[in-house]
Amino acid sequence: MDFFLDSTDLEEIKRLNDLGIINGLTTNPSLIYKAKTPFEQLIKNICSEIKGPVSVETVAEDSNQMIKQGIKLSKMAKNIVVKLPMTWEGIKACTELSKINIHTNVTLCFSTTQAILAAKAGATFISPFIGRLDDANIDGVQLIREIKQIYSNFNYTTKVLAASIRTKNHVSQSAIAGADVATIPPKVFNTLVDHNLTDRGLEIFNSDWHKSGQKIL
Ligand code: E4P
Repeated sequence: MDFFLDSTDLEEIKRLNDLGIINGLTTNPSLIYKAKTPFEQLIKNICSEIKGPVSVETVAEDSNQMIKQGIKLSKMAKNIVVKLPMTWEGIKACTELSKINIHTNVTLCFSTTQAILAAKAGATFISPFIGRLDDANIDGVQLIREIKQIYSNFNYTTKVLAASIRTKNHVSQSAIAGADVATIPPKVFNTLVDHNLTDRGLEIFNSDWHKSGQKIL
């Protein structure tokens, strides 16, 4: 499973990217708003740090505008993925951008039929929002399972990107369900390594090593 960061916080992005296990990144207009940095500068900075796919969203309502914005965004850096909304206009734009080999990510997916539309339009990624589904008392991870099943039935190549991840459990459940990617906010990413038995085990090992009087170097 690939790990993307769901963030525009450059400091956190750099710190986590230093781990060497981040495969890409996603942004959205709300995250851009949070960054309070000029848009183009922010995207260029992110793309020079993250070498894998970086999703940046179009903000138009009609497909022609989305296509224009998508082409412009794709010129900002080699690794840009154009994010398009799950609307008929977004699907139309996705079809056109796919034809000219621009990578796309269809966002705000909440159903299997929406995921089928994105795959048929040639989307590179589909983003089911599992946290927002859970908020509405609908099992978000179940949607991932169903999309994976449908994509495998028809050999669709669109990658399933588990989005709106709120907990460590969302990450593991998405992996079990076969999501190709999880896009994870830094706050959740930071918790992935935690386990109290690891902490306790390390405490005991360190204490016993100290008592042994041995040295490595
Ligand atoms: C994905 O690309 C979105 O940016 C993100 O996962 C949305 O998550 P939220 O529901 O926490 O806003």
